[in-house]
Amino acid sequence: MAEHCIILMGVSGTGKTTVGLALSQAIGAKFIDGDDLHPRQNIVKMASGQPLEDSDRLPWLDRIGDVIFSLGQKNESGILVCSALKKRYRDQLRQGNPALRFVWLTGDYDCILQRMQQRKGHFMPEALLRSQFAALEAPDESESDILAVDIAPDVAHIVDHALALLNHHSLQRIPA
Ligand SMILES: Nc1ncnc2c1ncn2[C@@H]1O[C@H](COP(=O)(O)OP(=O)(O)OP(=O)(O)O)[C@@H](O)[C@H]1O
Ligand SMILES: [Mg+2]
Repeated sequence: MAEHCIILMGVSGTGKTTVGLALSQAIGAKFIDGDDLHPRQNIVKMASGQPLEDSDRLPWLDRIGDVIFSLGQKNESGILVCSALKKRYRDQLRQGNPALRFVWLTGDYDCILQRMQQRKGHFMPEALLRSQFAALEAPDESESDILAVDIAPDVAHIVDHALALLNHHSLQRIPA
């Protein structure tokens, strides 16, 4: 398979980490959690309980964009987790990274809530899930580099579905 650089996006609890790890193993890609790329000042701010502003997210998204660029330069595949809820965040990640694709994990509220309630060692209040849904700017067809994948099936099916869409998408882009 050709190199892929993919952002796994979606609200909290959609399975970005779980599916991302499985997908990276399936295609032999690096797995990178965007949360690990925050600048120090953001980590300190979050640790003190303050929410991040968009101005804080700018340098963070730039770092994720630089990692995507670096992987591309080395012809390596990478799966990066970043919720990318706002279109402006996605646009920033796209800058200078034309081969970037997004896999958007989508599911209904009740399914995600149920999985989050079962998630071990990572409690998340329901209000936070609501705020995630409120913050999501759902991509429409104008964002043609985003492939939506339903999270209802088991992880193996989600990975197969994502790979089928990615292969189809790259085939479509080969010039005639
Ligand atoms: N397809 C699936 N079927 C059943 N359970 C799943 C599936 N995908 C993920 N899960 C479970 O749902 C919970 C949430 O998944 P995960 O932690 O990967 O989500 P996340 O998007 O990374 O969340 P966060 O944004 O909070 O880090 C976990 O307990 C995980 O094991
Ligand atoms: Mg996660």
